[in-house]
Amino acid sequence: MAGARKRILHPLLATAHLRPVARRPGGARVGGMATRDEQQAMDLASLREDYSRAGLTEDDLAPDPISFFHRWLREAVEAGLHEPNAMVVSTASADGLPSSRMVLLKGLPAEGFVFFTNTHSRKGEELAANPHCALLFPWHPLERQVRVEGVATPLEEDIVAAYFASRPRGSRLGAWASHQSRVVDGREELAAAYAAAEARFPDDAPVPVPEEWGGYVVRPESVEFWQGRPGRMHDRLVYRRSPSGWATERLAP
Ligand SMILES: Cc1cc2nc3c(=O)[nH]c(=O)nc-3n(C[C@H](O)[C@H](O)[C@H](O)COP(=O)(O)O)c2cc1C
Repeated sequence: MAGARKRILHPLLATAHLRPVARRPGGARVGGMATRDEQQAMDLASLREDYSRAGLTEDDLAPDPISFFHRWLREAVEAGLHEPNAMVVSTASADGLPSSRMVLLKGLPAEGFVFFTNTHSRKGEELAANPHCALLFPWHPLERQVRVEGVATPLEEDIVAAYFASRPRGSRLGAWASHQSRVVDGREELAAAYAAAEARFPDDAPVPVPEEWGGYVVRPESVEFWQGRPGRMHDRLVYRRSPSGWATERLAP
């Protein structure tokens, strides 16, 4: 119709005709999530990509997931991805409440995935109560993701000390100044704590590892390699640890 104004549907309404969902008693009703201006600027329901860069077959796989991960990580580095070693770590409290955050993968020995952090942080406390965790590498430009599920074990002191010593001096002082995940009064409190760390370890004085700082290795129980494919017919190949070694299987996308 000439002059008809384009109707921007609420993102949820826009998909309602595609996936009619029987409303169950007790199901969540949502609405009014975005103003009309926000909807016009970003119609979430229409944001989608079709994936066609590559495929993943059983023949591509290495005998173990760490070797195959090395291959995909190298490809992520070579593709120039921003922080290809950034991963989401999900932990759960003792009573099962989950939480996620990014950390950097800092080592990949045969035992598993290594990262460093404050062991008194929220993640540290949750891992102490429940060492089961999940890792996610979101490599969007390659239309890939890797999902890891496993058990985190604290790293030994000498490994932590060697990595800590390799960090820039500012990061080492920051580790002394920040009791990660604790509530602070304001930015000034952090600045004062950093200045106190600078005063405590002047000039080129060695900066030892703070007692609360450490690292973990996540020993994988399963690792899924996901490659986007056209029509949402993605490749999902999963390694699962078994008593006789690694078994692999394909999952429906
Ligand atoms: C790209 C990126 C990399 C990060 N790397 C680390 C890291 O290696 N170690 C770390 O403790 N926090 C890292 N952080 C900060 C964490 O996401 C998080 O804010 C912090 O560890 C506190 O988490 P928690 O309160 O859940 O324990 C990183 C954040 C981003 C965005």
